[in-house]
Amino acid sequence: MTKKGFLFDLDGVIVDTAKYHFLAWQRLASSLGISFTEAQNEELKGVSRVRSLEKILEWGNKTLTPEEFAQCMEQKNRDYLHYVYQMEASEILPDVPRVLAYLQQQQQAIALGSASKNARIILDRVQLTDQFHAIIDGTNVTKAKPDPEVFLIGAQQLGIPPADCIVFEDSVAGIQAANLAGMISIGIGDHAILHEATHVFQDFTGITNTFLDQLLHAAAV
Ligand code: BG6
Ligand code: MG
Repeated sequence: MTKKGFLFDLDGVIVDTAKYHFLAWQRLASSLGISFTEAQNEELKGVSRVRSLEKILEWGNKTLTPEEFAQCMEQKNRDYLHYVYQMEASEILPDVPRVLAYLQQQQQAIALGSASKNARIILDRVQLTDQFHAIIDGTNVTKAKPDPEVFLIGAQQLGIPPADCIVFEDSVAGIQAANLAGMISIGIGDHAILHEATHVFQDFTGITNTFLDQLLHAAAV
């Protein structure tokens, strides 16, 4: 059995932070006189902070000066962090700890591949930092998903060829990034949305140890 690399997205895969992003973006949008719905929030999943604000401004048909834009980014992140600092280990999504523990027991290589610049703070809050052999986040990448950069750097840091890597992702852009990296992609969420993934599960409760064993023994893609 060759050692595999398992790369996890953070937001929407390990923890449900989308609800906190929503509250922070909604407050900011409202201060700008822009309405912002949960459906629009869906479109921001996996999207960088800068691009998210650009999209909200497009929806509200509003332009800002570069200074105002920077202030809005700061304000949104301050509000978001207010929620993040109250997070606890109980917010880890169901069966994520079991899957991580099983992969550790099988001596597999495990990395985080997230667009968030707050990833390390969140992992610390939910006490998962020590589960990852490499952490690649929004501070390490220059190209956003669907560019495969974040996962390719992850594979490199784990010392595992991309073809022996498996990515867990909840966003379409993230699945596309994993596919472009030449990795097996596992969608977490709705099959209708994540149909480009190699496999899709509603959540980690459907990812049995038997299924993980199959991934461990699969030939490189
Ligand atoms: C992604 C989230 O993981 O990170 C996006 O799905 C978010 O919603 C992006 O905008 C950037 O996160 P942050 O924490 O750097 O603002
Ligand atoms: Mg995500």
